[in-house]
Amino acid sequence: MRIVHVNGEYFPEDQARVSVFDRGFLFADAVYEVTSVLDGKLIDFPGHAARLARSLAELDMDMPVTEEELLSIHREMVARNDITDGLVYLQVTRGAVDRDFLFPEDAQPTIVLFTQAKPGLADSPAARTGLKVVTLPDRRWGRRDIKTVQLLYPSMAKTEAKRQGADDAWLVEDGHVTEGTSNNAYIVRNGTIVTRQLGEEILHGITRRAVLAFAREAQMKVEERPFTVEEARSAEEAFVTSASAFVMPVVEIDGRPVGDGQPGPVARRLREIYLEESRKAAI
Ligand code: PDD
Repeated sequence: MRIVHVNGEYFPEDQARVSVFDRGFLFADAVYEVTSVLDGKLIDFPGHAARLARSLAELDMDMPVTEEELLSIHREMVARNDITDGLVYLQVTRGAVDRDFLFPEDAQPTIVLFTQAKPGLADSPAARTGLKVVTLPDRRWGRRDIKTVQLLYPSMAKTEAKRQGADDAWLVEDGHVTEGTSNNAYIVRNGTIVTRQLGEEILHGITRRAVLAFAREAQMKVEERPFTVEEARSAEEAFVTSASAFVMPVVEIDGRPVGDGQPGPVARRLREIYLEESRKAAI
C-alpha cells in the first residue's frame, strides 16, 4: 500500500485524512506540483520548488516548509514507496476553516504528497507513435500561470478529446493555441520551434524552460509567440512537454496528420537531449 504524506506525517493511503472544511476541497484554494522520478531521482526539483513558491505568493499563501524540507519529504516519499520511475504529486491548500469566501487570516496550510509508480516512464510507447490531439475552446480562468488544482475544465476537455478518438486536446483562445490540457504546446515551421510566450494565459512549464534552453544550446531556432490553429495544422512537426510526458510528439491535429504523420526529428532529438541532461542533473 502507498504511503502518503499529510502535514508532516506519513500514513498508509487508506488512513490519510484531510478535513471536509479544507479550502482545497471547498474552493479549489490550493496549488500543486508534479515532479517526475527517473532511476529513483527527482527531475528538476529546484524548478518545481521555485514555481510552487511563485504560485503560493500569487495567492498570498505562505510556503509551509523550506525548500530543503520539501526536498527531504520528496526523497522520503520516493524511498518509502520504492519508486524507481514515477511521479511525486504535491498539493498545498490554504487550510481548513469554516466556509467563507474571504481568505482566512489564521488558517494553517495543508500539505499532502503521494506518489504514482510508472515503470518505464521515460520509455513510453506513445513517444514512438506520437499523440493525436483535437482543438477545443480554452474555457479556463485567466490566471493559468498559477498552478492551482482547478482542473475541472482541463479534465472535461481531455475527456471530450478521448470521446472524439484523440489522446488530448489543445486549447484555443482567439484563434491561437494556448497549451494542452496538462502540457505546453509547440509546432515546428520552417525549421523554427514556435511556442506561446510566457504570460497569464499559460502555465510556465518547468519542462518548457529546460527544453527551450537545450534547443537554443543545440543552435535550434526558437520563437516564443502565439500560433494559430491553421499554423499548427500545416506545421512540419508538433509536440508537447510536461513533467510526466517529457517531450512527446503530436502526429495528428483535428484528424489530419502533422507533416508525414510520424514523430518528427526535432521532437525526437529534443526528447533525447532532455532525458539525457535531466537525468544527469537529477537529485
Ligand atoms: N501538468 N500546462 C499545463 C496546463 C499543465 O497542467 C502542465 C503540467 C504543463 C507542463 O508543466 P511542467 O513542464 O512544469 O510539468 C503545462 C502536470 C504534469 C499535471 O497536471 O499532471
